[in-house]
Amino acid sequence: MSDKMGTVLFTEEQIRARAAEIGAQISKDYEGEGVYLIGTLRGAVVWMADIMKNITCDAEIDFVTASSYGSGTTSSGVVKVKKDLDGDIYGKNVIIIEDIIDTGTTLKFLKGYLADRNPKSIKICTLLDKPSRRVVDIEADYVGFSIDNLFVIGYGLDYDQKYRNLPYVSYLEG
Ligand code: IMP
Ligand code: MG
Repeated sequence: MSDKMGTVLFTEEQIRARAAEIGAQISKDYEGEGVYLIGTLRGAVVWMADIMKNITCDAEIDFVTASSYGSGTTSSGVVKVKKDLDGDIYGKNVIIIEDIIDTGTTLKFLKGYLADRNPKSIKICTLLDKPSRRVVDIEADYVGFSIDNLFVIGYGLDYDQKYRNLPYVSYLEG
């Protein structure tokens, strides 16, 4: 792995600054209440760590694996839950923490899947949004950055399970 992989879009400093803003907003929105943060494995873990450190109200964390992708860069359109929550979200303020919203297929499915368990509320917080790629109707409540139709890696995001450990978001040419 070379020093910089691909063209850098967002540095760690930029992402952390944005996480501080969003964390402060979440803390304000849920003041006096608690939040139940659900990270989508595996891509969201780095962003989730940044977000949770900036939340000042009570916060629980949990994880789910919902996958619509095989290997490579194209979606299969079929979503499956491969790892379910460990805890009970009934009556809780759920915030799904996602790495990126592309077609929206994964999140649309996941939001419905979790809504069936009757949480008090469900919101979505994503590091990246590719609105031009959307095929289903779903929007995030908290968006780190909107990007063009680029395939991005790093900061949790992978290409064939590689590059999740890069401390920045970049894109590969071609
Ligand atoms: P969607 O169901 O099409 O919205 O796909 C969402 C999932 O696809 C994300 O959680 C990622 O795992 C993956 N994905 C979509 N776009 C990218 C990308 O540019 N880089 C890496 N993974 C991506
Ligand atoms: Mg993902």
